[in-house]
Amino acid sequence: MNTLKTIEGTKDYFELDADRFAKIIQTAERIFSLHTYRPIHTPVFEATELFARSIGAATDIVEKEMYTFTPGSDTITLRPEGTAGVIRAYIQHHFQQQSSLTKLWYYGAMFRRERPQKGRQRQFHQVGVEAIGSSSPLLDAEVIAMALMLYHELGITGVQTKVHSIGCQLCRPAYREILRSKVSENLADYCKTCQGRYEKNLLRIFDCKNPTCKILTEPLPKAYQSLCETCSRHFAQLQEALDAKNVSYIVDGALVRGLDYYTKTVFEFTHNALGSQDAIGGGGRYDGLVKELGGNDTPAVGFALGIERMLIAMEALKCCSCHIPLMVFGISIGELAQKAMSGILMRLRALGISCDMDFEGKSLKSQMRTANSRNALYTIILGDDELSRGEVVLKNMKEGGEQTAVSLPDLFDAAMKLFSIKNTSV
Ligand code: HAM
Repeated sequence: MNTLKTIEGTKDYFELDADRFAKIIQTAERIFSLHTYRPIHTPVFEATELFARSIGAATDIVEKEMYTFTPGSDTITLRPEGTAGVIRAYIQHHFQQQSSLTKLWYYGAMFRRERPQKGRQRQFHQVGVEAIGSSSPLLDAEVIAMALMLYHELGITGVQTKVHSIGCQLCRPAYREILRSKVSENLADYCKTCQGRYEKNLLRIFDCKNPTCKILTEPLPKAYQSLCETCSRHFAQLQEALDAKNVSYIVDGALVRGLDYYTKTVFEFTHNALGSQDAIGGGGRYDGLVKELGGNDTPAVGFALGIERMLIAMEALKCCSCHIPLMVFGISIGELAQKAMSGILMRLRALGISCDMDFEGKSLKSQMRTANSRNALYTIILGDDELSRGEVVLKNMKEGGEQTAVSLPDLFDAAMKLFSIKNTSV
C-alpha cells in the first residue's frame, strides 16, 4: 500500500520548526497586546466575492491562485490572506460603534495556488494586524515599528524595510496615465505577462522578475513622484515619524504590492536568507476598503508577516530553539512511588516548573539515562525507602551531580528557590 504524504506546497511542522512557530505566536501576542491590539479569528473560507472585491479581480491572487469551491449553490474560497476577512467582520459586527480606532491581530493558515518553491507554499501561515479607524501617518509608522520589534525579539536580524506611497484615488489615475504613455513607447520589448499587465494591472510591471523588464522599468516614473498634496504630506510625515523612531528604511519606488486595496503607504520587509522569495512580510494603508466592502468610509493600515519565511530566517540565523527546558525529571521505583511521583509533579507544574517522568516502570538506570538524554536540570528520585521516610532525593544533573535528601513538605519551597520562582501558592 502506498504511504500517504503531505500534498505538494503544504508542510508538517514539528520539533524545532514547531517550537519556533509557537514562539512567533507567543511573541507576537505579547508585542501586539503592548500596542493594545486584540485577537480576532475569522473563518478559513469566505464568499469568493469578498476576495474578488477586496484584493482585486485583476490581481494574480484572484485571477489564478485561489482555491474556490462550489458546494451546492454557494461559491466559497479558502482565504488567500487575512485582511479581507477581518474587514468583513469589522463591518458585520459594527466594531466602529464601539471605538473610533479598532486594533486587531490574527494568525492562521492562508491558501494560494502558487508554484511551490523555497519560502513559497500553497498552504502557508501569516501573523498580521489591522488598525482600522485612523488616517494618521503616525499609525503607519507605529505599525511598521511594531513588526520590526517582533523580528528583533525573535532574533531575526538583517531585515530590510522598504517603504513607498502609491497615492490615492485622486492622484493614482493621473500617475497611471503618465506611466502608461511611457511604457507604450517600447511595450513590445516587455515580457508577455507585463504586456498583459499593461492592459489590466499596470503598476504590477514593477514586480516582474524578468531581467529585460527590470531594465525597462528602472527609469520609469515612480508613484511617489506624482502624489497629490495630501498623499505627499502623508508620505513625508511617515518618513519623519520613522526617522524619529530610528527606523532605518529605504524608499523603493518599485514597491507596488500585489493586492489592489492599497492607498498611500505601502511597505515590505525583506531578508536575504530567503532567496528569490525575499519578502518576509508586507503591508500598507487601505483607506478605501471598508467602504468598498459596504461599511462607512474608514481609513485603515496593517501588515501580514509570513511565518514560513520567518522560520527560514530563524533557521539561517540559528535563532532560539524556544523549547522550554525540562526542569525536573521524576524517577520512581515501584508502583506506589510512581503514583506518588505523579502527584508531586502535578504540584511542581502548578508552580511553573516543567517536569516529566517515566510511566513504564523502567529500571533506575534506564530512567536516569532518559533524564540525561532529555537534558533535565534536576531529577527527583523516589523509592520505597524514601517513601517510608516521607522524603525524596533531589539530584542536580548539571553541576557535579550533587544530591540531597529533602523532606516532602520542604520539596516545593526548595524547588521554588532553585528555579527562582516567586509565587508562593502551591
Ligand atoms: P502579502 O504581501 O500578500 O500581503 O503577504 C504577506 C506575507 O505573507 C508575505 O510578505 C510573505 O512573507 C507571506 N506569503 C505570501 N504568500 C506566501 C506563500 N505562497 N508562501 C509563503 N509565504 C507567503 C498580505 O497578505 C496582506 N493581507 C498584508 C496586509 C495586511 N496588508 C494590510 N494588512
